[in-house]
Amino acid sequence: MSDALPPRLLVTGGAGFIGSAFVRRVLRRHPVVSVTVLDKLTYAGNRANLVDVESDPRFSFVHGDIADAELVDRLAAEVDAIVNFAAESHVDRSIEEPDAFIRTDVYGTFVLLEAARRHEHRRYLQISTDEVYGHVPEGSSTEEDLLKPRSPYSASKSGGDLLVGAYHATYGLPTLLTRASNNFGPYQYPEKVIPLFITNAIDDEPLPLYGDGLQIRDWLYVDDHCDALEAVLVRGEPGETYNVGGGNELTNLELTRAILELLDRPMSLVRSVPDRAGHDRRYSVDCSKLHALGWQPIVGFAEALERTVRWYVDHGDWWRPLKSGEYLDYYRRQYGDRLAAGSSVD
Ligand code: NAD
Ligand code: TYD
Repeated sequence: MSDALPPRLLVTGGAGFIGSAFVRRVLRRHPVVSVTVLDKLTYAGNRANLVDVESDPRFSFVHGDIADAELVDRLAAEVDAIVNFAAESHVDRSIEEPDAFIRTDVYGTFVLLEAARRHEHRRYLQISTDEVYGHVPEGSSTEEDLLKPRSPYSASKSGGDLLVGAYHATYGLPTLLTRASNNFGPYQYPEKVIPLFITNAIDDEPLPLYGDGLQIRDWLYVDDHCDALEAVLVRGEPGETYNVGGGNELTNLELTRAILELLDRPMSLVRSVPDRAGHDRRYSVDCSKLHALGWQPIVGFAEALERTVRWYVDHGDWWRPLKSGEYLDYYRRQYGDRLAAGSSVD
């Protein structure tokens, strides 16, 4: 087991929410590590997320697709490890249009694994999700549990996970796989529930709460997630999978109340709207394996949510331009009829 990060990292999807947090953090904390970001800059990718590191000589950015084998091979030749965040990541979009999910989350992962194998990388880290375990009515999923994905998003992520396992078993590639719960924090694209509800509430727009709002998610602050990823990269056992959870299981209704309280906005903004198709009621992960590596979440939930809300209040310059153009078309498709059919919750 090595005791330091591989010195040259290829971080795919590094212009997205979690990838950019990881890149900012690694460059800040590890003076000898260099990072190349490969990102397709889909609607969710944003160079503004990397503005803090743009002038760092150890940072470089390549605009491209992880499914482009030639490009990936060229970049892989120059690094010691790949950390793969690149994915189509939003469940609602996967229900609307699954194609890109299969191409990026399954085929793109295959392209990266092939390159890592060819160039005999020291590590390959795949960032995955607790959603691959499917709905968990009680107890918590362990890394040994069967995958029972129920959305095109979680099914495509499961496909990627299975390929990672196969490349370790078949070719001895030193893979690592993490499955995190729902992340939140600064720079999250305002389609996911926390930034969507915060930014809508700031503008006194309705908050579309799906179904009865009693679905449960375990919220993980993005910095704690990045901390876990570093622990796994440095101390994880090749071939192993590690669950990463925040230990903060809340119903969506509880979460919504907490956001509105922090912003001093009324519950009358909440609209109960028709539910998401195939909506998983609950996710929950057992993280004892990762705790044994010495990781624990550090930032308490109340503190992390307050920081996040404050960040969005202070950074309208970041999110307001995103809520335009394609976003508004998506918003209308996703929420237009639902909001019209919705009802108040108080
Ligand atoms: P995100 O949607 O904010 O970012 C994804 C990034 O990948 C974007 O920058 C996008 O441009 C890039 N990308 C998409 N397709 C690409 C392609 N074909 N080639 C190169 N780049 C491409 O997602 P996120 O929330 O930061 O999630 C990052 C990873 O973490 C994903 O793999 C996701 O499945 C996983 N994950 C997310 C969460 C969460 O709550 N957000 C939880 C657990 C796991
Ligand atoms: P989301 O942020 O899309 O993450 P995921 O589906 O990957 O868990 O949604 C989190 C929870 O919030 C989920 O139970 C669906 C719910 N939700 C709403 O109630 N309204 C919304 O507009 C969105 C986007 C999500």
